[in-house]
Amino acid sequence: MAMKVSLLDAAERLRQEALTVLDPKTQSDLGQFFTPASAASLIASMVVLPDSGHIKILDPGAGTGVLTAALAARIINDYPDLAADFVAVERDDDVVPFLSETLRHIEDSSNGRIRTQLVSADFILETVGLMPKLNLDSSFDVVIQNPPYGKLPVNSAHRKAMRIFGVDAPNLYAAFLTLSLASLKTGGQLVAITPRSFFNGPYFVDFRRHFLKHLGLSRIHVFDSRSTVFSDTGVLQENIIFSGIKNQTRDSVTLSVSESQIDVPRERVVPFSEVVHPGDPHQFIRLATNGEDTKVAEIMLSQPCTLNDLGIEVSTGKVVDFRLRESTFHRPVEGGKPLIYPSNMKSSGVVWPVVSKKPQWFLPADAKAETLLMPSGWYTLVKRFSSKEEKRRIVASIWNPTENPDPVAFENHLNVFHQKGQPLDELLAKGLGVWLNSEVVDKFFRTFSGHTQVNATDIRNMRFPDLETLRSLGAQSLTRAEEPSVKLMELIA
Ligand SMILES: C[S@@+](CC[C@H](N)C(=O)[O-])C[C@H]1O[C@@H](n2cnc3c(N)ncnc32)[C@H](O)[C@@H]1O
Repeated sequence: MAMKVSLLDAAERLRQEALTVLDPKTQSDLGQFFTPASAASLIASMVVLPDSGHIKILDPGAGTGVLTAALAARIINDYPDLAADFVAVERDDDVVPFLSETLRHIEDSSNGRIRTQLVSADFILETVGLMPKLNLDSSFDVVIQNPPYGKLPVNSAHRKAMRIFGVDAPNLYAAFLTLSLASLKTGGQLVAITPRSFFNGPYFVDFRRHFLKHLGLSRIHVFDSRSTVFSDTGVLQENIIFSGIKNQTRDSVTLSVSESQIDVPRERVVPFSEVVHPGDPHQFIRLATNGEDTKVAEIMLSQPCTLNDLGIEVSTGKVVDFRLRESTFHRPVEGGKPLIYPSNMKSSGVVWPVVSKKPQWFLPADAKAETLLMPSGWYTLVKRFSSKEEKRRIVASIWNPTENPDPVAFENHLNVFHQKGQPLDELLAKGLGVWLNSEVVDKFFRTFSGHTQVNATDIRNMRFPDLETLRSLGAQSLTRAEEPSVKLMELIA
């Protein structure tokens, strides 16, 4: 145990030192968010190690080597008959000396049982692409990683290299996970900490299919509160840790949750079909981490309609204000129409005009701008980005034309519900608002989305009650003021 502490302590000291000397711009460009020791221990604890023999372990994007150190510590302390070869790949020359120091320390502490190799190279370009120098294919028993984050522009060398490999990876971590899968033997284990965005992000479809085809997910761990893991590096993404076995079919998945990396996780085992619904063309990965979540998912999935079935469309507000400066006004203008922003959405409904830094009037300067106005009538609105302070991820409100019978312009940070560009009827608009603001919808959304963004695609993929139920929810909202979720449960029970 003492050894474990000292190995990890040394790695943590090197991590802290590296954070103080590295250039912040390079850190951001290369996605350098080094794992704190406590999280590294948790990640390393998820690797299932054999009692004896010799295994090969890969740590791509190794940074200062804290994950390798955490796993090596386990082997040294708890697996006296096991030997391991670690390969740590790192691209940044400024980080390499720290990594080299960590690896040296591991070897020195291992009594000859652990060998390490530092590969100072670009994991993507040197593994795939036109002139690959590294051949890591199918030779590893374990990959442990906290890969770099960051988008891969469509024409970047890295993105092209991945396309040559056969998987379109929209960002660095998707590329790293894809290549990590390729480097594993069949039956080998992948353990990684990554942002949760690939679980349902629309850009990740290609990657997700490839990932789920080749990896049998055995465990997914989420943190209850955002940003705890990398709080000292400023990362606000919601992170997950997962492990899986290459080319294994799974019937069940262990889901675990902890408040932070030092708590004891709460665990539950769920059928794989609850995590990835059979036949789901998008292959979303959903997380129902407790029994209530499962009930919520069941209620949602048993709803009879999609938006399409209801004849309702959802689109982002058409007004992109910085492109339409001539048509937007901060003060009333003759003929000016309401311009609605998320900040106009209050708990009582949409309030207009409000005192705001945003312009509140829209007077089309030309024929093109004219087409951005929606006809007078009822519309349901949902914020595209909820703020961290907001209790709900999905925040809906209603545009009421009786207060303002003019045509209306909606700004681009809103999702707008309409029927072929025409308004909804009053009860439908209100019923949709009640449904979308309900606890059941919010909880369902959380099981499936890790970020505060609510994309129109996410909404299109959700299920809804039928028109009659929605209208009856709308009618009740006129006369009763209690929590919408209570009424909902009565109605859809
Ligand atoms: C998120 S950090 C994590 C580092 C380390 N695994 C940890 O957990 O602390 C990702 C690391 O990948 C490195 N990196 C970024 N792009 C890379 C590439 N194309 N090839 C190899 N390493 C890369 C970065 O320099 C950084 O050290």
